[in-house]
Amino acid sequence: MATMIDGKAVSAALRSELKEKIAAFAAASGAAPGLAVVLVGDDPASSVYVRNKHRACEEVGIYSEVYQLPAETSEEELLALIDRLNAAANIHGILVQLPLPKHISEERIVLAIHPDKDVDAFHPSNVGKIMLGNYRFLPCTPAGVMALLQYYNIEVAGKECVVVGRSNIVGKPQALLLLEKNGTVTVCHSRTKNLADVTRRADILVAAVGKAKFITADMVKEGAVVIDVGINRMENGKLCGDVDFEAVSQKASAITPVPGGVGPMTITMLLQNALRAAEMQQ
Ligand code: GUN
Repeated sequence: MATMIDGKAVSAALRSELKEKIAAFAAASGAAPGLAVVLVGDDPASSVYVRNKHRACEEVGIYSEVYQLPAETSEEELLALIDRLNAAANIHGILVQLPLPKHISEERIVLAIHPDKDVDAFHPSNVGKIMLGNYRFLPCTPAGVMALLQYYNIEVAGKECVVVGRSNIVGKPQALLLLEKNGTVTVCHSRTKNLADVTRRADILVAAVGKAKFITADMVKEGAVVIDVGINRMENGKLCGDVDFEAVSQKASAITPVPGGVGPMTITMLLQNALRAAEMQQ
């Protein structure tokens, strides 16, 4: 049976350290770091994420403002709010929850957020910095994965790392962060031939596909470390990852559960980025 990589426990440990750092920052600067979270529309999953982000801010002493805008909000209205938040001295980080309604261009919105306040690291200038290995902010989910590996002393250097999924939010930046730590990285996607042959090479396998139980036991090498980034809601209402946990946990040496694996870490990394943003803007 594999070691359970406990994202909740690691998050709790990191958040308690962060809380102290934030208190010290607030005492020295006279104000807490401030984060604005913007949600357009009423997608139930996004609403839960936004609520969790707000709660996590309260837990560690970050001032947070949540803007819940109706689905009909125009692109101009959203851009006007971002302009205001870019100029607000008490707001150091801005997060616009994705996906946005179809009539709003995500690209224009991401470009409008000031790169120094871009705690998601979605702005091209921050993406470019990650590519160059010289970053202001790390993208939250991939950084959460790296923090879990580090916490469990799982060495990346020299390992075969296979990332399944090539999204801009997870797959691509995940590959860069693993490469930065000297992993030998392969990125797989829907057009990859003989996918199982590739995933079976992995010492560290990261699943970021968005399909429930997509990674089955036959796709995993004995003793691999398996990181599941997926959050899928099944018909019975339960959450499930991209990995067939029951079967794969019999083969892996370590594995993240869903929920309670990568998910809590994503928010913890967001909190870290909010503090970093505030420190940079001092
Ligand atoms: N939607 C899903 N994940 C994320 C994230 O990390 N940040 C934002 N802004 N939206 C998301």
